[in-house]
Amino acid sequence: MIKIESLTVQFGGVRPLDALEGQFNAPICGLIGPNGAGKTTLLNVLSGFVTPVKGSVSLDDIILRSLSPVRRVAAGLRRTFQQELVVDELSARDNIQAIADHISATRRDAREEIDRAMEFVGLTARADVPGFQLNLYERRMIEIGKTLIGKPKAILLDEPGAGLNESETERLRGLLLQIPQRFGAQLILIDHDADLIASVCAETMVLDFGKLLALGPTRAVLDDPAVRRAYLGTA
Ligand SMILES: Nc1ncnc2c1ncn2[C@@H]1O[C@H](COP(=O)(O)OP(=O)(O)OP(=O)(O)O)[C@@H](O)[C@H]1O
Ligand SMILES: [Mg+2]
Repeated sequence: MIKIESLTVQFGGVRPLDALEGQFNAPICGLIGPNGAGKTTLLNVLSGFVTPVKGSVSLDDIILRSLSPVRRVAAGLRRTFQQELVVDELSARDNIQAIADHISATRRDAREEIDRAMEFVGLTARADVPGFQLNLYERRMIEIGKTLIGKPKAILLDEPGAGLNESETERLRGLLLQIPQRFGAQLILIDHDADLIASVCAETMVLDFGKLLALGPTRAVLDDPAVRRAYLGTA
């Protein structure tokens, strides 16, 4: 469970997060809001890449503030980036191996965890294909596969569905739904696709220029007139 308390981030004159409060309780939670709302900034604070001027975030009652990004990974936090970080020169498997080398407890654990992650994301048959030959969907799958190594407790995904076609989005949806049970991790999903959010996230947080606009059961949140006005552009 992720908890956010009076969280404020300031970049010069910009305040991407402003006294944000909230808690993600459901196994899969959505994080939505217009461009520039502060979604990625919240992921950056949770993963330790941005230091807030005020407030705190915690994971299962571990206060994250004093932990480096690497220590947060050890505590079970995983994330992907809006721009995927696949190494073109490494094979699909070696991209995941590179993470396992740092995270898995033993070599044997690493092997098993890589096999499991590769199979789960459907890349087993593509294990030896170099990064530069992988398509956008496969690159996203590498990124998700990396988050499944070790013992993830919370996985933060920054727009994994962006740019995917309909059938790819469908496959992504099927995988996301299985992650909490199969890997024992809570999922926080940023996406601009309200249908994807509605179909996988039991709870959703809506940010609007650094402020909490809504948080609760996804259907109720998406039907909230304030959310529709600010985010979906309808009254
Ligand atoms: N390192 C930074 N320095 C200055 N301003 C920043 C920095 N990072 C983000 N911002 C600003 O903070 C605000 C929130 O940005 P953020 O990337 O969190 O939005 P977002 O909700 O992820 O948007 P998008 O949907 O476009 O990805 C924006 O106004 C952005 O320009
Ligand atoms: Mg973003």
